Amino acid sequence: MGVVRNLRQVAADDVGVDIAFRADVHAGLAQRRKAIPARWFYDATGSALFEDITALPEYYPTRSETDLLTRHAADIASAIGPGRAVVELGSGSSTKTPLLLDAIAPAAYVPVDISGDFLRDSAQALAARFPAVPIYPVEADFTQRVELPREICPLPKLGFFPGSTIGNMVARTAIDLLRNWRATLGDGSMMLIGVDRIKDIGILERAYDDPTGVTAAFNLNLLERINRELGGDIAVENFSHRAVWDDVHARVEMHLVAACDMDFTIDGRAYHMAKGETIHSENSHKYGARDANLLLRAGGWTPIATWDDADPAFALILAEATEFRSAP
Ligand code: AVI
Repeated sequence: MGVVRNLRQVAADDVGVDIAFRADVHAGLAQRRKAIPARWFYDATGSALFEDITALPEYYPTRSETDLLTRHAADIASAIGPGRAVVELGSGSSTKTPLLLDAIAPAAYVPVDISGDFLRDSAQALAARFPAVPIYPVEADFTQRVELPREICPLPKLGFFPGSTIGNMVARTAIDLLRNWRATLGDGSMMLIGVDRIKDIGILERAYDDPTGVTAAFNLNLLERINRELGGDIAVENFSHRAVWDDVHARVEMHLVAACDMDFTIDGRAYHMAKGETIHSENSHKYGARDANLLLRAGGWTPIATWDDADPAFALILAEATEFRSAP
């Protein structure tokens, strides 16, 4: 069957730059506490650096989740059942996808990712491995409303949201996303989601600040991307990477820290940063078991099974679309 076609739902300007990227950078840098959404890490360079992160000994989430998918494949498959269209949110290089597709005999696979090049390459690789499964790649930002390929309309759906990417959103945004996907995937759908647990601060901070500097390069690439795509003249060498646990919000925060006072322009617009000032570039929220279930329920999903690992703690949660009830 192979890759059917690539559905593109990203709006670019006349020089090929994502309109939302430009808007988010200017809006984020104009704030008193500067911040840029983490989704802009993932240009081709950032996506490749993220793949390198997933192989780091300090970065446990990928290994833990892969291990859970492998060890519990039979249980996961019997809870999900065959014949569903698997819609993967932020598929990236789709490295965990074969484990799921092997286990559950899906009717179709729909990878959704904002990085078009990555999406095409991984869809081709999966098509070669699963020739009987039709693949409909959608180039889109999964945090926005996404239109699914009409071919999968009659099929029951399974949302697959691995990697604990839900943790990169603040609670309000996470709930909006879950509610959006509840509406998009429809009644009778299911969601298999990876959630990282709260754990020892040392383990968490090392996972986001590895000694080889891969995560630092990933963070700093955001500034390089601004220079490349938005005509910025940021002196990237004057920034450093910081990853710190914030216990109040139960999250690891990543920041880009200015080493000195500096001025720079982006699109000809002037910005100033004082020494020590930061650009907040990512949140990675961690969840206790009850918190995660509450988040899912608030998003319109009823958790029905959890597979988790204690060390380092990570969970895969299967939820089904909550039925509408007019009263509790
Ligand atoms: C994609 N996301 C789940 C990663 C995380 O763990 O929050 C992104 C990442 N940032 C630094 N390392 C990995």
